[in-house]
Amino acid sequence: MNSEIAPAHRVSKKKRGSNDINTFHSLFVLFSHFMFSMYYHRKRTSEFHEKGDIRMCGIIGYVGEKVAMPVLLDGLKRLEYRGYDSAGIAVVEDGCMVTFRRTGKIAGLEALCQENPTLSRWGIGHTRWATHGVPSEKKAHPHLDCRQRIAVVHNGIIENYRQLRKELEDIGHVFLSETDSEVVAHLLEGGGAPLQRIQKTVIKLQGSYALCILFQEEPDTLYGVRMFNPLVLGVGENENFLASDIPAFLDKTRKVVFLDDGDITRITPNSWEIVDFYGKQKTQATVVQIPWDPLTAEKGGYKHFMLKEIHEQPQALEDTLLGRWDLVNGRVRFDELEGFALGTVERIVIIACGTACHAGMIGKYMIEQLARVPVEVDYASEFRYRDPLIDEKTLVLCISQSGETADTLAAARLARERQAMVLSICNGMGTTLTRISDRTLYTRAGVEIGVASTKAFSCQLAVLFLLSLYLAQQRTTIGNQLLSTHIQSLLALPRQMNDLLKNSATIHELARQYYLYHDFLYLGRGVCYPLALEGALKLKEVSYLHAEGLSAGEMKHGPIALIEPDVISVVLLGKGIAGAKTLGNIEEIKARKGKVIVVSHPDHWGEIPLVEQVITITDTNKYLVPLLMIIPLQLFAYYVALEKGSDVDQPRNLAKSVTVE
Ligand code: AGP
Repeated sequence: MNSEIAPAHRVSKKKRGSNDINTFHSLFVLFSHFMFSMYYHRKRTSEFHEKGDIRMCGIIGYVGEKVAMPVLLDGLKRLEYRGYDSAGIAVVEDGCMVTFRRTGKIAGLEALCQENPTLSRWGIGHTRWATHGVPSEKKAHPHLDCRQRIAVVHNGIIENYRQLRKELEDIGHVFLSETDSEVVAHLLEGGGAPLQRIQKTVIKLQGSYALCILFQEEPDTLYGVRMFNPLVLGVGENENFLASDIPAFLDKTRKVVFLDDGDITRITPNSWEIVDFYGKQKTQATVVQIPWDPLTAEKGGYKHFMLKEIHEQPQALEDTLLGRWDLVNGRVRFDELEGFALGTVERIVIIACGTACHAGMIGKYMIEQLARVPVEVDYASEFRYRDPLIDEKTLVLCISQSGETADTLAAARLARERQAMVLSICNGMGTTLTRISDRTLYTRAGVEIGVASTKAFSCQLAVLFLLSLYLAQQRTTIGNQLLSTHIQSLLALPRQMNDLLKNSATIHELARQYYLYHDFLYLGRGVCYPLALEGALKLKEVSYLHAEGLSAGEMKHGPIALIEPDVISVVLLGKGIAGAKTLGNIEEIKARKGKVIVVSHPDHWGEIPLVEQVITITDTNKYLVPLLMIIPLQLFAYYVALEKGSDVDQPRNLAKSVTVE
């Protein structure tokens, strides 16, 4: 705890009377927050999440001796890796709020600021990664209250913003945008000290939020609030910072305080303090010295973006699922599909490239078995030249992380020409594919920098599973009970993924044993067959080793001729019969002195013959097995590449998005 200042809201003895009011106020806030948090957390599991900006936006706040504008712009540039489509800053100049907002890259915002220089020494900034709708200046942060005396930047989703907005409009507030974030600025209006207004505001918010707030009436002071979204405090010399991530200010200070959910912090150039939502001082906050260089910080302390993004999967999955399920009514919800005539669809053609196509192949099993709709899957590069038989009753489902892959775009355009309905699953906001498509279901994996696609893949599978359930509930091909059970299995995955990620050291040790081998076969059946293709692709593209994925049932039709002691077979045992049938493959390989690594569902515990290594996932339904098994496969590929010394994030000959044929 910083001992340089008395807590800002502590009242001196002589104001005893007002202290009683403060005490009453604190008790009121405490009681109402307790009641609210009980109610909210009960609802959180079932409440639909309204859309909004989610965790990949960038926040920066500065207060100190320097002119704020260049510090804010520099901080936003250091957060560019998080991806964004608009940016803005707010400062107070000569007692007036001044905001600058631009769509597109920060260079545009910088040019605007250079035309209108300010000398203010405190301010806030934001980069926005929209989750829906085209980017616009109106939606860009910071957002202001009616009197333009309060500026707010927000990262996360205010789930109950529609209800709050209506209440505010009913008492005369005028909104300038459709975003959930603007609601916060209006809630902060009214009487009382800024800190008290913040406390009154946050107990009304449901959802996830990291906030940075500037009150015109309180010079050289900023506030930050953290609830289910990262926010860190940078402690400098005669200056302090707030940011969504350390890289924003790491070149200016390495002293960081990591805020916790439920923290409100108040910073000035020479002080900082933290209180909780009830106004109670937080005394155990510690200042951490960050050893990383700025680039390492962008990687969150990981050696490579690929490893960081493998570890981001639980969070990316949670973000992707937000607002798309309702356990209370046992329903899946896609607002993006409102009025989209999926009921008339007679067949689905999934097209994609590389990893995205592997996801689509798994999606085929999900959709056909749950929604009973015929599905075919094609590489986009094949589809576009095979004069496909599609029409207005065909749904062409395009899957792409980047939304800019040339073959996938060409295939999507062909589908449109043939009058097919075009739906895309995409990670890139406002990209070409989303503009070609009739509708888009966004994965919310956040920006994926490593060329090898990891978190995008698992998020694509999650959206495909939700889409399968959505189609199944529309066609009543499964009952509500089973629907709820499947949704619960999906919601359990982030925790299960985290448990698997704790095994990283075991996988690293396994990679050390096998990185000098040259030939790898990946075998699987059912959903584990496309997963075998994906596991092989991960290894080959980052380690340059020969690896191929096979349908396990195909081994005896030729590939088993490859088996010898120096060939490593990675055998995937899925849930139930698909996995049971693959046990025989292990015996066949061992009989020919091949080495075997098994990744298995717990169904087959005790049935697996003696092999080099067994990695067991935890139980989940048969469709979701790939979302867990992919974790050790991604880690194995990463660590083999690490041991071989290849350029993990930018492997030779590869691009993150293949925008040319
Ligand atoms: C996967 O690790 C590769 N980077 C590559 O196969 C990729 O999946 C493929 O190029 C498709 O890219 P997209 O998802 O951006 O369309």
